Amino acid sequence: DVPRVLGIAGSLRRDSLNGQLLDYAAAQLPAHVKYRRYDELKSVAPFDEDDEVAPPGAVERLREQLCWADGLIIATPEYNSAIPGQLKNALDWASRPIETAALREVAAVVIGASTSSFGAVWAQAQLRAVLGAAGARVLDSEFALGEAHERFTPDGRLGDSELARQLAENLTLFMTEVTATAAIRTTEGC
Ligand code: FNR
Repeated sequence: DVPRVLGIAGSLRRDSLNGQLLDYAAAQLPAHVKYRRYDELKSVAPFDEDDEVAPPGAVERLREQLCWADGLIIATPEYNSAIPGQLKNALDWASRPIETAALREVAAVVIGASTSSFGAVWAQAQLRAVLGAAGARVLDSEFALGEAHERFTPDGRLGDSELARQLAENLTLFMTEVTATAAIRTTEGC
């Protein structure tokens, strides 16, 4: 099976550094991977457990995109030492109903960019915990891009070769998980 990867940027803003990081990471994936970037995060309504069995259309589409994927790359910003509310909200929808949750068994890797020197490490740790709680197979690694506003070349690449190497290493580990998942993941009832 051809491995399928979905990318999500946790920021809604147009010039998001996490969006740039996600696009760069996606461009490093092996050529045979089918990749899609999810772009409807802003349309996902606040989670309401009353609606989880018959959710709004944007939530259905989020679940469909996740069910399509064997692997998930999330680039998260850090807001006040945590993941942005809109990202947590979408993941809460995708974690329910538990038996058929779209996040279950998907291979996931977390990366993050911030304008401080830390590279969203607290948000990344929190995001790994959230994904793990929802049943995703989360890679125990992070890629922290600090001072991200100074890191991209005009054509969207990472200027620092050591950082580029670190990211490539994480993506190689991720692709091993994605390939294993593609061979076994059933999206039945998803
Ligand atoms: C931030 N920022 C930030 N950075 C950080 O390293 N730790 C933090 O806790 C926070 N907190 C925070 C809260 C809020 C509400 C905003 C808007 C920003 C700065 C953040 O790293 C910066 O705005 C990034 O550019 C956000 O990511 P995107 O939108 O560029 O992807």
